Amino acid sequence: MVLRNVLTASIAGLSAMLLVSSCKHEPELPPGGNITEVCFETQVQPIINSNCAVSGCHDGSDGELPVLITYNDIMREVEAGKPNDSELLEVVTKNQGSEEFMPPSPRTPLTAEQIALIETWILEGAKNTTCATTDCDSVNVTYSTTIAGIMSTYCTGCHGTVSPSAGLSLSSQALVAAAVNNKNLVGHVNFASGVSPMPPSGIKLSPCNLAQINKWVSEGMPNN
Ligand code: HEC
Repeated sequence: MVLRNVLTASIAGLSAMLLVSSCKHEPELPPGGNITEVCFETQVQPIINSNCAVSGCHDGSDGELPVLITYNDIMREVEAGKPNDSELLEVVTKNQGSEEFMPPSPRTPLTAEQIALIETWILEGAKNTTCATTDCDSVNVTYSTTIAGIMSTYCTGCHGTVSPSAGLSLSSQALVAAAVNNKNLVGHVNFASGVSPMPPSGIKLSPCNLAQINKWVSEGMPNN
């Protein structure tokens, strides 16, 4: 079962790699090497933070459970280059009926695309990569191509549809717009004083993502 899921994830992984914006890993590119690779900081870490490092789980609040916030934390559950030997990938691809399946019910399972990103990142050596933000497009911003992606990477692990653990779902344009209007979403993501920082890991959205949210808000938060 694990193998089959992983195979499916590999196929999805290839398509995800084509879809996901190109990430440049600057420090140690092989000459003429492939510059498209999964970025730990913007593509893997936020998925794990938002789905696993939630209050009472892998955020350090339960002393028995491994913490999954930083790169070093996450690497304790990963064998670089070996997805099949990586506990992190194993638990998210288990049979959903299994007790070890993560995240546990009623939390939402990771999507095939998220699993594929994690698997590809492990295959690529599980490096602590950061993305160049030069490709950032904060001009052509739409809900479906930009905002929904930010929410699903950074927020909906806690603010999802099924029993949102944070008591607020951010899984549609209407819900995000309402949170901007009534819950000071913009203040939360900018770590404004007097409101709790979001995401609560304390790892702020990139300046590019913040600019994209501002742009969408300034345009009246269209459902486009
Ligand atoms: C690890 C879980 C987690 C993640 C990830 C997370 N949040 Fe939260 N969020 C919470 C919890 C728990 C609360 C309620 C307690 C609080 O305000 O700290 C909350 C509260 C909020 C509130 C205020 C709700 C209210 O009723 O006043 C907003 C707005 C918010 N989050 C937006 C976001 C956005 C946007 C993201 C993604 C960038 C995000 N959150 C990521 C757990 C999370």
